[in-house]
Amino acid sequence: MNINELYSTLGSELENLKAAKTFKYEVPLESEQGGTVTVNHQNVVMLAANNYLGLANHPQVKEAAHRALDEWGYGMASVRFLCGTEPIHFELERRIAQFVGCETSILHSSCFAANEAFFSALLANDFGQTDYQDAIYSDQLNHASIIDGIRLCKAIAKPTISRPYRHNDLEHLKQMLLADRDKNFRIKIIVTDGVFSMEGELAHLPELVAIARENQALLVVDDSHSTGVMGKSGRGTPEEQNVFGEIDVITGTFGKALGGASGGFIAGRKELIEFLRQKSRPYTFSNTMPPSVVAGSIAAIDLIENDPSIVTQLQENTAYFRREIVNLGFTIIEGNHPIVPVMLGEAAVAQDMSQELLKEGVYIKGLWYPVVPKGEARLRTQISGAHTREDLDRALAAFNKVGKRLAVI
Ligand SMILES: Cc1ncc(COP(=O)(O)O)c(C=O)c1O
Repeated sequence: MNINELYSTLGSELENLKAAKTFKYEVPLESEQGGTVTVNHQNVVMLAANNYLGLANHPQVKEAAHRALDEWGYGMASVRFLCGTEPIHFELERRIAQFVGCETSILHSSCFAANEAFFSALLANDFGQTDYQDAIYSDQLNHASIIDGIRLCKAIAKPTISRPYRHNDLEHLKQMLLADRDKNFRIKIIVTDGVFSMEGELAHLPELVAIARENQALLVVDDSHSTGVMGKSGRGTPEEQNVFGEIDVITGTFGKALGGASGGFIAGRKELIEFLRQKSRPYTFSNTMPPSVVAGSIAAIDLIENDPSIVTQLQENTAYFRREIVNLGFTIIEGNHPIVPVMLGEAAVAQDMSQELLKEGVYIKGLWYPVVPKGEARLRTQISGAHTREDLDRALAAFNKVGKRLAVI
């Protein structure tokens, strides 16, 4: 293929995506992120952001970021082991580790980078052994960054095998571990999302802790959709399920509930985290989080720790919306997470509903095959603590109107 042919192939692939209605369009916002936003000069209720606690434009978070910009400047201009580390980076590592119930942590530029880094950083080392195999047991619905992290690990650390287990099917996981018993794997890792983002479903952490202990496996939980969200004080899925402090490794993001800017972390035991500081390639070869974002993230943790109502407001809003949307006649995936999937079946219905809802003042995204299984197209509603009761009622009224118009309810 010559270069002209390459560009023309790319052009026709883009046309194919549009024809298949899988092309991703980006909607310009005319306001900052919040419980409501402005789109096409219209104020609409935002139901598609991971801004669970409404901290993306919280005055204290913005003020902390402004202060850090003045005090520490705009950027670090290299990686930490080369150009130095500011005290706020260490402070955030300490604070987030404490918040999620681990000994210490290491920052990355995103949770995607953290997940991509983790497996190969750990497993691409022979630790003086010559003949060994490692195994990673991974929930089939885990986030793309975990899947890519495992793929990368298999490419770099050749003796690594992956064992995907059926979603949340712990019997399947146990069967695989049993079948592998005689293989004497050197290191076993079980990895799961704490909350699965297409369903708003939780992993079963108490059982996973028990399985990991019984099999001498390291339990890794990506709690990106749960840190700041689930549990009485927002400390995540482990707090929600009474296993706080019992997870070996927690990865997460500052790009959702904790201010919504960017940045990720890996939290765990000191020896592991210090080892990752030496071996994680995205940590070693890519700039760290900028000072303003670090300070904003610390301010987000301060807010959550000092004012429990921030988390309870989100939980109340979630319970209210879940109850009322069902009362209108819609089918949802039951649960208690602010991700509330409204099930519609066919992709065309989800596409039409999403467009009609925007006209009625609600910003929401539809998901359909191949992102979710065929025939399970849905609108993924995401509730925020920033929503007022009026915002939620406005959204519910729009759902009622459009749902009836399209004969969904
Ligand atoms: C479960 C999970 N892990 C990781 C990520 C990536 O987070 P970040 O935006 O910090 O890269 C996401 C974001 O979509 C996620 O949902």
